[in-house]
Amino acid sequence: MDYSKLNLSFFLLPLVTLLTLVVGEPQVPCLFIFGDSLVDNGNNIHRNTTAKVNFLPYGIDFPDGPTGRFTNGRNVADIIAELLGFDSFIPPFANVTNEDILRGANYGSGGAGILDETGRSMHGDIISLNEQLSNHEAAITRITKLLGGKTAAKQHLGECIYYVVMGNNDYLGTYLPHFYSSKTPYTPQQFAALLIEQYSKQLRRLYESGARKIAVSSLGKLGCVPLELATYGSDDDASCVETGNNAVQIFNENLKHLVADLNNRLPDAKFVYTRESSSATSYGNIKNLRDTCCLVETGGCVPGSVPCGNRFEYMFWDEVHPTEAGNLISATIAYNSMAPLYASNPIDVW
Ligand SMILES: *[C@@H]1O[C@H](CO)[C@@H](O)[C@H](O)[C@H]1NC(C)=O
Ligand SMILES: *[C@@H]1O[C@H](CO)[C@@H](O)[C@H](O)[C@H]1NC(C)=O
Repeated sequence: MDYSKLNLSFFLLPLVTLLTLVVGEPQVPCLFIFGDSLVDNGNNIHRNTTAKVNFLPYGIDFPDGPTGRFTNGRNVADIIAELLGFDSFIPPFANVTNEDILRGANYGSGGAGILDETGRSMHGDIISLNEQLSNHEAAITRITKLLGGKTAAKQHLGECIYYVVMGNNDYLGTYLPHFYSSKTPYTPQQFAALLIEQYSKQLRRLYESGARKIAVSSLGKLGCVPLELATYGSDDDASCVETGNNAVQIFNENLKHLVADLNNRLPDAKFVYTRESSSATSYGNIKNLRDTCCLVETGGCVPGSVPCGNRFEYMFWDEVHPTEAGNLISATIAYNSMAPLYASNPIDVW
């Protein structure tokens, strides 16, 4: 054992971290993203679904214009990839090349949920979390071929970060409308338990496929999104739909317990629960937390309409999706909550 080397490496670590930032190596070699419209970057545009937004004003602030992202600029997945040090965005699974797939893929699909039926009747052929996991298993077959075998693939997959954003549509589309009209047999506790039971199976399936560093997003205050305010809110400018927020809060509490439980039960796995924008202490330049920046009539921005000019002052882009400014707040909070996944990455100095 060469002790002088060890001591040196201790002092060199901050320098190495600095150098890594300078030469632009990402903090982890790969990032896989699962989720709904908060992360979809173009998967839905190839599907028979009404949940697709490849038209202006969506993408008005994105370098490539409208791409299927449900916001004016970058979405949460884009910003997290940048914060992790990737020099380009993680491509949508629908069109990921062999060259790119070793850096990851984005399986996100607008309208999708934890439950297979979420989004189907409203939006058609969206990609549920179960189908996203099947797509990931197909990606692993490609990765295994590219790396020349299962051992190398397993090693590689264990070093990636997996970011999962699910549940928004199970509440906004599936549960809350039925809950408000008293047409559901489920209490908020029962519905949260149903989702968590399914989510637990899905997160274990991800672990079985080789994931070891998994970030699971909590849900934001859905009772404060413009859609909920317009449909069920009061005229009071300060209030949100608290029954909606309370239902989501029950899900978040259960999710925290699920994450702790998975960490206890699954060897070598590190799951983290990531917070989102409603835990922000400040909203920076954002002044308007209730109105949509774009013109909304029957769902989503009206195609070709002119959105607000001061987009960085709005939290919401359309009736459910944040602006890029809002995404920046959520993504930064999520990235910081993920620190145990990248900070614990062993750095091989020699
Ligand atoms: C697309 O979905 C709609 C509604 O679900 C259906 O009526 C239509 O036949 C589908 N189109 C194709 C090409 O599958
Ligand atoms: C992207 O993927 C979709 C669905 O798999 C496919 O229909 C489309 O042709 C692809 N586009 C390109 C440019 O590869």
